[in-house]
Amino acid sequence: MSILTERQAVEAALDAARWAPSVHNTQPWSFAVKGDEIALRADVDRQLRVEDVPGRELLISCGAALYTMRTALRCAGFEPVVRVLPDPDRPSLVATVRPGAPAEPDELTLLMGGEIERRRTHRAAFTDLTVPDRLLDALALGAMGEGARLAVVGEPTAVEVIAALTRAAQGVQAQDRRFTLEVIRWARPPAAGRSDGVPAGAYPRTAPRTDPFFPQRDYAWRHDWGTEPDRSATSAGVVAVLTTARDGRGDWIAAGQALQRVLLHASAHDVSAAFHTQALEMHHLREFLRHELLSGEFPQMIMRLGITFEEKESVRRPLSDLLG
Ligand SMILES: Cc1cc2nc3c(=O)[nH]c(=O)nc-3n(C[C@H](O)[C@H](O)[C@H](O)COP(=O)(O)O)c2cc1C
Repeated sequence: MSILTERQAVEAALDAARWAPSVHNTQPWSFAVKGDEIALRADVDRQLRVEDVPGRELLISCGAALYTMRTALRCAGFEPVVRVLPDPDRPSLVATVRPGAPAEPDELTLLMGGEIERRRTHRAAFTDLTVPDRLLDALALGAMGEGARLAVVGEPTAVEVIAALTRAAQGVQAQDRRFTLEVIRWARPPAAGRSDGVPAGAYPRTAPRTDPFFPQRDYAWRHDWGTEPDRSATSAGVVAVLTTARDGRGDWIAAGQALQRVLLHASAHDVSAAFHTQALEMHHLREFLRHELLSGEFPQMIMRLGITFEEKESVRRPLSDLLG
């Protein structure tokens, strides 16, 4: 039995979608509602012109919003009916979604639905608490269910290689004025009125170095912004790469759906994720990773998973700004 009407379920799905993760919190999406059908559109005005020329991270972000809507509809008691890239003549129409047949949500879906607003990106070291192998296996199964693969990187040498690629990419991007300006553009200064971008309450002022060291993006850029980190946390956590077999627009949307499925499931077990996608924005480094470590599969997200007790801030645009 559904507890909400179709109309209420659609409203809940729209409200939930706002909380999906997106690159630099660009929130590159808009929605149109016709009857009970939601059209999810990519907002290309919010695409990162330097870091994300192909629009890969834009569509991963939209895929995450799509999975969020599916979860919210399930929690409201409806099986979602989804069409991905339904109209070749309208490439920015990412998907249509509507509530289908009534269906009782299972326990995990309800738990994941409860994490949609609570989940936060982490940007520092993790505590020494272990992420259970059983959870990692379940996260990998979930990613597979969305057409992606979550490759948990167990081999210390491989973890060091990924950390080194991240350092190389961050080093090059930090020297490049175009990259720096784009990060500054999406850094949200303390007390700023805007409701997008990465706020100063979302990253530490200086983070203890993990071994191996995975550098963060420099959102504070020459300002004394950021929170006081938990200095007792020093672990890099578990490194994982989300991959797809191909690298088309549909694969990026699938990767985004898999990403949010992994993140909400992890968050339901108090496991957070930190992302390091700098190397994936540099063609040669991405190709190196693909061929040397991933047997030719396409890396879509690099993340560290772990346990933290630090509170983080995030902001979102109101729904009224997103309805077109
Ligand atoms: C495609 C994609 C790439 C991202 N890359 C990074 C990254 O390299 N570094 C980082 O700190 N966060 C990264 N993020 C996380 C976003 O910055 C984060 O989702 C956004 O700021 C919203 O904050 P929240 O996840 O805490 O709600 C990425 C997210 C997505 C979807």
